[in-house]
Amino acid sequence: MKVLLALGLIPLAVCAQDVQKVLQRDFQPRGQATMDRVVQDGVQRVCTESNDRPPAELAKQLEADQLKSIPFPQGSLMGDWKNGERIAQNGRGGQWTDAPGAAGGGSCYNCHQLSPQEASFGTLGPSLLRFGATRGNSPDMQRYVYGKIYNAKAYNLCSQMPRLGYSGTLTPEQIKDLVALLLDPSSPVNK
Ligand code: HEC
Repeated sequence: MKVLLALGLIPLAVCAQDVQKVLQRDFQPRGQATMDRVVQDGVQRVCTESNDRPPAELAKQLEADQLKSIPFPQGSLMGDWKNGERIAQNGRGGQWTDAPGAAGGGSCYNCHQLSPQEASFGTLGPSLLRFGATRGNSPDMQRYVYGKIYNAKAYNLCSQMPRLGYSGTLTPEQIKDLVALLLDPSSPVNK
């Protein structure tokens, strides 16, 4: 398949459809992990079928649509960084072994470095060490971080970062706690 793709003998969209068929065939629904987990929404499909390189104009327009759909809470967006730290280091939630409705985690550590003390962390995303110390914690910065966690695709259409608020994985309160983790000067991220 890869060779034919490289030679341009099959269009990428066809390959992406084959992948979807395999996912539909092999994913076993169990408990709360139902088949909707392997159904892409329109935005994800645009990314998958263009190998994460949609036309720039289209990407810009879809990012703007995603941004408009984020329900930003009124008032301060900074919660409690101590709760935020627990949420960032928690990779559970939404699995068939989790109680439906139980608070989920953000899995941030899976892709980002968050404190100098962490023994292990993923590197798919950039290190967030000293994020607030470098960027400040103005209302605009709070809004950016809240929005990025709620729906990363509003800022980068084909981001590999999950849309944690949009998908219902995290609540608005939990996202505020994560904003504080990144931006509060006393959080370990900024030490
Ligand atoms: C599956 C991997 C993954 C997970 C899980 C993840 N991220 Fe990300 N994140 C990324 C990637 C990749 C980028 C860089 C590309 C982009 O900006 O979309 C990124 C970018 C960011 C940025 C923007 C950085 C900048 O320089 O502006 C922030 C803030 C962020 N992530 C915070 C978080 C937080 C907080 C969590 C947990 C709730 C989280 N991420 C979970 C992959 C991930």
